Amino acid sequence: MGRDASLQTDGQPISMTVDQVRHDVKVAPRTLLVSALREQMNVTAPHIGCESGRCGACSVVLDGETVKACMVLAVQADGSEVLTAQGMADDDLGARLQQAFKRRHGLQCGFCTPGMLAAARALLLTNPRPTELEIRAGLRGNLCRCTGYQHIIEAILDASGQIAEDGA
Ligand code: FES
Ligand code: FES
Repeated sequence: MGRDASLQTDGQPISMTVDQVRHDVKVAPRTLLVSALREQMNVTAPHIGCESGRCGACSVVLDGETVKACMVLAVQADGSEVLTAQGMADDDLGARLQQAFKRRHGLQCGFCTPGMLAAARALLLTNPRPTELEIRAGLRGNLCRCTGYQHIIEAILDASGQIAEDGA
């Protein structure tokens, strides 16, 4: 692989706040946001799957909007505020979702989970008590190869207060 990307000295300087930590890095014009996060800022919650906007594994919240970080150039996020699944532990709704995913076994290998959490958080912000059908629609941009989705849906119903914590 070669050199440590965080030591890149050429490229365009950008700065952004990620999970409440400011980062100043230099990136090439075509560097993807997800690559800059993972390789230059050591923020590894967003995963790289398809790199073409289809799987949702790289989803993050960028200035309040959920985006697929493989579809955004790092330079486009200059000056922005980014929230990843890593930082959701310090976010009320994000933390509630993380706990519900754990309680309901909403993950197996965990590859899709950071993106699922970002999508679920966006859904509950606009629709705090979604039906199962609305949850399925809200997750349509995120793929999971492991869970069959049912546990993820139950986790989101749980986080939205529609299932008792004891599973009833
Ligand atoms: Fe970004 Fe799949 S890696 S959508
Ligand atoms: Fe493995 Fe979703 S838990 S891809």
